[in-house]
Amino acid sequence: MRISAVLALAATSFLSASADFVDVIDFTNLGFQGYYYDVKAFKDVTKDSCTCERGDAVSFKGPNAPLNEALSVHFRGPLVLNEFAYYTTDLFTLGLSSSSSWNRLTYYNAEKQVGENITFLTTAGEYSPCLGYALTFAGANGTSAAKKATLLESNNKIYSNEEYAIFSNVSCDSSGPNNDCGVYRSGIPAFQGFAGTVKMFLFDFEMPTEDKLSSDVSNYDMPAIWLLNAKIPRTAQYSNNVNCSCWRSGCGEFDVFEIMNTTEALNLYSTVHDYQGTGDIQNGIAADKFIERDLTGNMKGGVVFDLNGNAAVFVSNSTRFDSTISGSDINSWISKASADGGSVSTALSSATNPLPSSTSKKSGGANVTPSIFTNFVVGVLGLVYGLF
Ligand SMILES: *[C@@H]1O[C@H](CO)[C@@H](O)[C@H](O)[C@H]1NC(C)=O
Ligand SMILES: *[C@@H]1O[C@H](CO)[C@@H](O)[C@H](O)[C@H]1NC(C)=O
Ligand SMILES: *[C@@H]1O[C@H](CO)[C@@H](O)[C@H](O)[C@H]1NC(C)=O
Ligand SMILES: *[C@@H]1O[C@H](CO)[C@@H](O)[C@H](O)[C@H]1NC(C)=O
Ligand SMILES: *[C@@H]1O[C@H](CO)[C@@H](O)[C@H](O)[C@H]1NC(C)=O
Ligand SMILES: *[C@@H]1O[C@H](CO)[C@@H](O)[C@H](O)[C@H]1NC(C)=O
Repeated sequence: MRISAVLALAATSFLSASADFVDVIDFTNLGFQGYYYDVKAFKDVTKDSCTCERGDAVSFKGPNAPLNEALSVHFRGPLVLNEFAYYTTDLFTLGLSSSSSWNRLTYYNAEKQVGENITFLTTAGEYSPCLGYALTFAGANGTSAAKKATLLESNNKIYSNEEYAIFSNVSCDSSGPNNDCGVYRSGIPAFQGFAGTVKMFLFDFEMPTEDKLSSDVSNYDMPAIWLLNAKIPRTAQYSNNVNCSCWRSGCGEFDVFEIMNTTEALNLYSTVHDYQGTGDIQNGIAADKFIERDLTGNMKGGVVFDLNGNAAVFVSNSTRFDSTISGSDINSWISKASADGGSVSTALSSATNPLPSSTSKKSGGANVTPSIFTNFVVGVLGLVYGLF
């Protein structure tokens, strides 16, 4: 039995002060000025000679940047998703009672089979040596390919290493460097992600122990829910070529609830993967405490990004999925979760990495490479990425 579990039996108040398990994981000072590289073109996609051409450098700055860009939401099994919602608002600050209320723009309810402004995609498409498997519409079980947008069936369980992703139902313009979704792999169903500096994702989910696949499968019993810059899956989610997606140049990933290995099979970590205060995008900046994976019950919670560069990951059975939720309700769920279950706060270092001699956003400064980036790329090229 874990020491923290023993303590929990002895004294609840002692637990919240001392255990490594918390119910709230905060990141503060999130967002910086930097840039990443878009993808410009793909060549010989299905051949061994497959390559990608690097595109323009894209500048970003401000609270939560680059995670203020449009994000897609990703799930890995063993996992059951019961409910999901995405919200936006104008003015919300964590801990500030006068914060404005939130509006739900996307919603999924498995049991009621309700889906609003949502598209489930999965990588069941064409294989490419440099891009991996292409996105397709997901069938009702989350991992099969479908011909059109399909709602995930109720009580659907994906197993270890199986994945699907959620996007909005707003179609991207055609692929192109100056179009709304940038350049993406041809033939995929391309939908916009979830944009905004101030945004919130809520989940009701289960992460039971793997009971079907054997332990030699990759990512055995390592469920996760994470956010990617939505450009990443539309180009190449799992690729070891630096020019085939913007991931390695730092367009952003945020791991909300992630099991890192089977040694720590109950520890749901939260991690920021970009270049704010680190050159190590592979490991990113992880909080050093974690949320406890519940192997038998439902877990409810999510992540809120506020106006001032604070992000809070939380679990709380108070979580509701109403079409509007007041700012004070969100703040009270989180402060109560923190008081009952403990919290951890990680301050990101302030960082500024402007695009040298840039003229404007998407300036075409393709010759400029951040030193932090070149040095790092040489070291890790060859590793497969997408979720760490
Ligand atoms: C990526 O693109 C840059 C810029 O065009 C080029 O210098 C580099 O060799 C490319 N890397 C790979 C692995 O293709
Ligand atoms: C659907 O989601 C997209 C992306 O968040 C948003 O821009 C759009 O307004 C939403 N549509 C509706 C009808 O809510
Ligand atoms: C997108 O979702 C919204 C909200 O559910 C719905 O009103 C709209 O018809 C959907 N649009 C498409 C193209 O499916
Ligand atoms: C989903 O359906 C596909 C195709 O029938 C099947 O191969 C796969 O095992 C199913 N996955 C799950 C998680 O049930
Ligand atoms: C499991 O992951 C945690 C968090 O990244 C790490 O600290 C620990 O060393 C890992 N354990 C093993 C056995 O890899
Ligand atoms: C939340 O509810 C689940 C049952 O769905 C239960 O297992 C869990 O202990 C509850 N959490 C708290 C903090 O009460």
